[in-house]
Amino acid sequence: MKNVLVVGSGAREHAIVWALSKSGAVGTIHAAPGNAGMASIAVLHPSAGPTAGELLPVIRAHSISLVVIGPEGPLVAGLADDLRNEGLSVFGPGKAGAMLEGSKLHAKKFLGRHGIPTAPWDLCSTVGEVRAALEKRRPPFIVKADGLAAGKGVVIASSMEEAIQAARGMIEDGILGESGRKVIIEDALEGEELTILAVTDGRTWRMLPPSQDHKRVFDGDKGPNTGGMGAFSPVPWVDSSLADRIRNLILEPTFRGLRDDGISYCGVLYAGLMIGPDRMPRVIEYNVRFGDPEAQVVLPLLEDDFGEMIIACCEGRLSEFSYRDPVRWAADVVLASGGYPGPFEKGKRIAGLDEASGMTDFLVFHGGTALDPEGRFVTSGGRVLSAVGLGNTLEEAIAKAYEGASRITFQNMHCRKDIGRKAFR
Ligand code: AMP
Ligand code: GLY
Repeated sequence: MKNVLVVGSGAREHAIVWALSKSGAVGTIHAAPGNAGMASIAVLHPSAGPTAGELLPVIRAHSISLVVIGPEGPLVAGLADDLRNEGLSVFGPGKAGAMLEGSKLHAKKFLGRHGIPTAPWDLCSTVGEVRAALEKRRPPFIVKADGLAAGKGVVIASSMEEAIQAARGMIEDGILGESGRKVIIEDALEGEELTILAVTDGRTWRMLPPSQDHKRVFDGDKGPNTGGMGAFSPVPWVDSSLADRIRNLILEPTFRGLRDDGISYCGVLYAGLMIGPDRMPRVIEYNVRFGDPEAQVVLPLLEDDFGEMIIACCEGRLSEFSYRDPVRWAADVVLASGGYPGPFEKGKRIAGLDEASGMTDFLVFHGGTALDPEGRFVTSGGRVLSAVGLGNTLEEAIAKAYEGASRITFQNMHCRKDIGRKAFR
């Protein structure tokens, strides 16, 4: 049995820790920094930052041999390479693979080189170039910072002036730092967004159940973008012919492309897709890690041992791993702090967690909680909790998620009331 370290602190990492805690292949689970909600199933290392220098002493002191890296920042910074160089098994791509998320320009060139469908695009490094790229297009206008921007790098503008203002802020005013000095202008894609996660050992890959996120803060997809207000999985309208197109047109060429480019990729790949009215999938973006909140619905559905699956990836023997499709459904309602995604207050007492945790077919993953001096849970972030319901139908899973969520309260808590509704449109 391997002792495992999970890097990260959100509800996604709580879901990863939880899935590992069910594994027969995993010994003690550690998390750095982790969060208060994981403390019953993982040893926390709250002061260890996501660098090899800070993690290696923890890894050595606790005989850890497998590291799972949750967020994109450390992956793009090359943490997986640094740990592999120390002889560790790491689930997560090295810097070369992580650039699929780290640079939109890199991702667009990759997509083009390997013939993978995506929106036509232009690279712009001056406002004049932005104007020329916009003049070729119709609204809505899509403006994307090249580099990582913690969810703030994409602007969807309804007018040319708004798009130019957004691009000027990035290119000339540097509001996103170096990440926004180059921008991509691309065609707006029509259709339904879909998240596809696939795990790979660099040779073989397995597509996990499809899911859908809810990025806007308010019901009916209104209001500003957030990190994600909820998710469900699988997605009823993804039939076998669409799943085959996703495998053949997106995943297979992506993993073949990585190999052809000489990039060895072990970890999970997140393909953010737009499924057009023609039922054809196109890539909106790649991420090189599990989605948040998608992980909170996909991981509880796995029929197989998650620990064994990622160990098989790290040992290059995913082909021997017999993956079974899920038979149940999951829905996640994110409970957020009042004001999120704008400024919000922290330190609100959370009531009802014990009662909710006692329910069957219901899980709570912590994203932004802390303990007060009396050892009670309080809010400490924007997306505080993921309330996850499971069921034999999607309707049951959604009802369970809201039933559990209704038992949990904190001051100014808000959540979307329509998670999963778009599945039935
Ligand atoms: P990201 O921050 O990269 O996840 O992008 C934010 C969101 O912008 C995506 O989830 C889509 O909803 C939207 N988006 C990005 N690119 C496009 C596009 N070419 N067409 C339509 N919507 C897009
Ligand atoms: N749910 C979107 C993301 O993880 O990027």
